[in-house]
Amino acid sequence: MADGTEGRLYAQATARLKGLIENGTLAAGDRLPSVREYARLQAIGVNTVLRAYRILEDQGYLETRPQSGHFVRRRQPQPAKDLRIPEVSDKALSVDVDSLATRVFEAFRRPNVLPLGAACPPSSIMPWRALSRHLVSAVRQSGADSLGYYLPPGYEPLLRQLARRSLAWGCALSARDFVITSGCSEALNLCLMAVAGPGDVIAVESPAYFGALQMIENLGMKVMEMPMHPRKGMSLDALEEALKHVRIKACIASPNFQNPVGSLMSDADKERLVRLLSKAGIPLIEDDTFGDLAYEGKRPRVAKSFDRDGNVQLCSSFSKTLAPGYRVGWVAGGRFHERLLRLKTTSSMGSAVPTQMAVASFLEDGGYEHHLRRLRTLFASQAGQYREAVLRHFPAGTRVSRPQGGHVLWVEMPEAADALRLFDQALKRGISVAPGSIFSPGGRYRNFIRLNCGVPWSDKVGEALATLGKLAGE
Ligand SMILES: Cc1ncc(COP(=O)(O)O)c(C=O)c1O
Repeated sequence: MADGTEGRLYAQATARLKGLIENGTLAAGDRLPSVREYARLQAIGVNTVLRAYRILEDQGYLETRPQSGHFVRRRQPQPAKDLRIPEVSDKALSVDVDSLATRVFEAFRRPNVLPLGAACPPSSIMPWRALSRHLVSAVRQSGADSLGYYLPPGYEPLLRQLARRSLAWGCALSARDFVITSGCSEALNLCLMAVAGPGDVIAVESPAYFGALQMIENLGMKVMEMPMHPRKGMSLDALEEALKHVRIKACIASPNFQNPVGSLMSDADKERLVRLLSKAGIPLIEDDTFGDLAYEGKRPRVAKSFDRDGNVQLCSSFSKTLAPGYRVGWVAGGRFHERLLRLKTTSSMGSAVPTQMAVASFLEDGGYEHHLRRLRTLFASQAGQYREAVLRHFPAGTRVSRPQGGHVLWVEMPEAADALRLFDQALKRGISVAPGSIFSPGGRYRNFIRLNCGVPWSDKVGEALATLGKLAGE
């Protein structure tokens, strides 16, 4: 059986049994079915059950009594604690992450390194055959047109597809509202340039997506950090307070499945965020890169869906769901649309056309929703598996985020742990991780790492997490 499938089965078996113990169906002292019996009952492999029982034993739910079998323990472990809400500076800060982030990127690029540091799902789980077919046939059908410039806003059929998709985000945007960009990175960069200049202060989440911090640094801007609640997202009370005392020029936020924390802001908070900023005349740059990757329920609304005066610039891409290398992203810039069009034109004269054609054709064909369902289930199950492995192998006191979508985990190790050292040591063993300090302007989060749980589970991944846990404890 493929590693990925086997991995999912044992994670499911573990979760199911844990649920039965936690809700009291299996009480302290109860004897579990034998491994063979349980495998027969659930129609799964003996090894899968063995693995699940071993994990539950490691986590303190079960005990093995020689010659007698597996029993539910009398005292079960405390559920793992949530991440703490960080304390942040009450002053605007200069950003200094670019050189370290560049070092980390180099590690991502190395061949034969297990990419647990990059927030990039492997291409093997993407519908690359179907996309390649669409690419070839779209380019053939358009003949010589695929060679020409498509000046911004971009390829019309793709703009129309985005407008249709915007209904699922709670918006009703038209094709004219979008500009196609080279990934979400370019969209964020253009938005920053559209609304702020050197020396201006940008409100950001803490921890923040480090790519955005690098852009802010390179544009000579400063940041004001807002603490993140591990499940609810940016603290709006902190933002409201900061708006009273600091001249903030713009705010960047990821209400849906923030990178690295994985939090999801409620609709009420999204509305409050939009209102707060609109009232103060401060543009919101919304990064919805992971918005299509909810583990449960409907695709969440975007904050832009509460925008009444064009103050929100919504940015995203197909990098996490289809093809990062196609570099197809977009921005719906509200009242900044015209400015974004000009900036995009001067920056690159438009994005590459063939990949826009391929994505438009793939979306028209209707395969995207089916693919997303598969991806969401896969990431949900892997996030659980990675989480459990981290809690099992890392030093006592380690906390791990509980993402509600996306494919990254934010791991808080005990105070004494040094994530930069771990980054170096892990790389020597062929594993990349993202050290916490690149997620804040001034080197906070030294005992944190971000892990990419988009890499399909395998024994190699399990061993890598065990190695990381051991190194973290040294
Ligand atoms: C939160 C977030 N925003 C933006 C980006 C950039 O995406 P793209 O590859 O589309 O430029 C990333 C990539 O990791 C990301 O995690």
